[in-house]
Amino acid sequence: MRGTFIVIEGIDGSGKTTLAKRLAGSRDVWLTAEPTKGRLGSMLRSGELGDIPPAAEALLFAADRSIHTAEIESELEKGRWVICDRYAGSTVAYQSASMGDSADWDWLNSMQAHSVIRPDAVILLDMDPEESMARVGSRGEELSRFEKLDFQRRVRTAYLRLAEQFGYIVIDASKGADEVFADAVNALKQRGIDASE
Ligand code: TYD
Repeated sequence: MRGTFIVIEGIDGSGKTTLAKRLAGSRDVWLTAEPTKGRLGSMLRSGELGDIPPAAEALLFAADRSIHTAEIESELEKGRWVICDRYAGSTVAYQSASMGDSADWDWLNSMQAHSVIRPDAVILLDMDPEESMARVGSRGEELSRFEKLDFQRRVRTAYLRLAEQFGYIVIDASKGADEVFADAVNALKQRGIDASE
């Protein structure tokens, strides 16, 4: 039987990694993330490309995703679960936020058509950027240019639009980790996915 593909999306500091690990539990799951640890993903994360146009960024994230998707597909075919921290929605949310008024929503979605597969469920961890940024700050990480408040607000708005358009599961991520996990398990159950511990 084909494995289950779950994606977790959300602004920086919304708790995606914590939820991903919790959902994996003791199952045989491939926990993975984007940008990937591959050549393109590492390049994108390191900032070595400097200030490139958001369209170039979008295409590079999509290229990283295309390579990653081939690996995801092969795990799913083996019957393994895959839980991915960020996927197609990240490019639409973040790069539309970077593009501002000139953002082409339909292009950001459609140019990924051949780089992605449809997840069984996408969970959006939604929260106020002010709160999530305080969390990021408290982790002691240096704030990257992605992590500026105004920008995160635009990303959040874009995510909520995606959630409506593509039927994401939206969870209030300002709650504690236990509650977020319980909400995720319940919502997945309603979609026929048993992720209970
Ligand atoms: P992040 O998940 O924070 O990775 P890490 O915790 O390893 O640094 O992702 C790094 C940044 O990349 C994050 O701020 C979001 C951004 N990003 C995009 O702008 N577009 C994308 O398509 C993806 C996958 C990430």
